[in-house]
Amino acid sequence: MTAIRIDGKAFAAKLRERVGESALEFAQAAGRKPGLAVVLIGDDPASQIYVGSKGKATLAANMESFTHRLPTETSQGVLLALVEQLNNDDAVDGILVQLPLPGHLDEQSIIASISPDKDVDGFHVINAGRLSVGQSGFVPCTPLGCMMLLTDRLGDLSGLEAVVVGRSNIVGKPMAQLLLDANATVTIAHSRTKDLASVVKRADIVVAAVGRPEMIGKDWLKGGATIIDVGINRLPPEPGKEKGKLVGDVAFDEASEVAAAITPVPGGVGPMTIAVLLRNTLVAAHRNAGLDVPEHL
Ligand code: GUN
Repeated sequence: MTAIRIDGKAFAAKLRERVGESALEFAQAAGRKPGLAVVLIGDDPASQIYVGSKGKATLAANMESFTHRLPTETSQGVLLALVEQLNNDDAVDGILVQLPLPGHLDEQSIIASISPDKDVDGFHVINAGRLSVGQSGFVPCTPLGCMMLLTDRLGDLSGLEAVVVGRSNIVGKPMAQLLLDANATVTIAHSRTKDLASVVKRADIVVAAVGRPEMIGKDWLKGGATIIDVGINRLPPEPGKEKGKLVGDVAFDEASEVAAAITPVPGGVGPMTIAVLLRNTLVAAHRNAGLDVPEHL
């Protein structure tokens, strides 16, 4: 079997287009554009690139983008004051504080200071709690994007065996909640799981989010499984090359021999994250303006 390649890049582009159109309709109804504020502390090169792309994507989706870049030595108090100002700013529907933060800042208390109604990352404990009891809130962008790809591919997930490898608050745990809500039978596996390979081999759906390059090979997979690879790992550069290749947590070529469908790295889950961030911002805008959230979002 050669697996179908799940084209997250194309899916994300379509979602961004729908969000962009819906943002125009929102502006007509609300008399203002939806707004996303992104806060970056320090000069981490990868974060600089992410924040730059988020700003551009926000503008391209017909939304206002507010980017706040603060120096590494910014104090907890100054950052909390900025979040408070954004919480109270009616032009701002969504607030994202780019992680990781420099070591002297307390990530948990910064996230806790964001208004849950503007927490488009879905990282606030209120939103994690809402997800776990089935109330509507904000769901973290990456797992929600994975879920969109899965339901697009498989339709109804009822009764399917899903194994999520990785238990982070940002991906593994919310992913498991979403799969459970969709009536899958869910296992969360992790670094201490005994005989991880045989646990993964039970799965109709594998979501890999561990950050270990090509850890999951074809021997670990059930024939016909659907694989969502959240890992983005850079291999050491080959001789004469400046940069190593980007690979996922799944060995793509060999997994493709047994799986029914699989997301590539890059071009699979990665592009979904920003698209869902824009989608969450538009949902926030509708809620904040007291308008119904369009169903196709
Ligand atoms: N750093 C890397 N990915 C993310 C994300 O999705 N949200 C935030 N806030 N920081 C990140």
